[in-house]
Amino acid sequence: MPQSLRLAAAGDIALAAGDRLCIVPEPAPEYGVCLLAAERLPRLPVGTRLSPATGGPDLCVVAVKDRPGRGDAPAARVLLAEALADGVLPGGTSAYHAAKTGLALAWITLSDKGSQGLRADAAGPAIAETCAAALPLCLSLGHIIPDEPRDLAALLTDLALTQGFDLVITTGGTGLSPRDTTPEATLRVIEKRLPGFEAAMLAASLAKTRHAMLSRAVAGTLGQAIIVNVPGSPKAVRETLAAILPAIPHGLDKLRGDPADCAQA
Ligand code: MTE
Repeated sequence: MPQSLRLAAAGDIALAAGDRLCIVPEPAPEYGVCLLAAERLPRLPVGTRLSPATGGPDLCVVAVKDRPGRGDAPAARVLLAEALADGVLPGGTSAYHAAKTGLALAWITLSDKGSQGLRADAAGPAIAETCAAALPLCLSLGHIIPDEPRDLAALLTDLALTQGFDLVITTGGTGLSPRDTTPEATLRVIEKRLPGFEAAMLAASLAKTRHAMLSRAVAGTLGQAIIVNVPGSPKAVRETLAAILPAIPHGLDKLRGDPADCAQA
């Protein structure tokens, strides 16, 4: 849903593509380069594009943070936005057009060694690449964390419910090893399980390797997001995602209450 908002800059802000700045509800020097919301900051999910009416580079919301209350200052929501091109945002108050088109993807690699920098992660980037080829993505961000179910459950909840990612795909930790706990952590947070996704991934995988039956990957919804586990190799990422990505846009529409007749979909 397009919205407009007014943001204020203390002076001209020169940005290079990829630079990040904060959007805060009141002055907060500790955040460095900031835009100030001149009115109540609307709830904007990650992937929202902010286009200044007065010139300057478009911004993309890449993170939503909750700042705890301090003293008299109440808790507040803070947005982190990334410049999509080089340019200068003019000082003073300007109108920004806010709209999200496309899907925001978060991928999570579960790997004790990868999270310590002891192994290069190829599976997470394979998720990003495979999804970018099949879906209209407006944002793609990754995380590498150890095989700790509490960390994963907390991250899934944050990505789906606070940040507003549409699709969260985990890789690794779906098998039988002692530290493989991705399905358990995922089951702890999902609201509606998607057994059809699980069956489609298993069927496609069994056609490639008998070892596919060793994966316990699950899928489900949390809030407005779809969460999917896939096994931990780039080959398995590609084989499993090929089976489910075509159903993601329609699934997200239905999750958000699209009342359209889907007999032809
Ligand atoms: N599924 C597909 N499509 N391709 C694969 O290569 N590997 C299997 C299985 N599923 C595989 C697959 C293997 S060898 C294992 S042990 C399990 O996924 C669990 O993998 P994980 O612990 O890395 O998640």
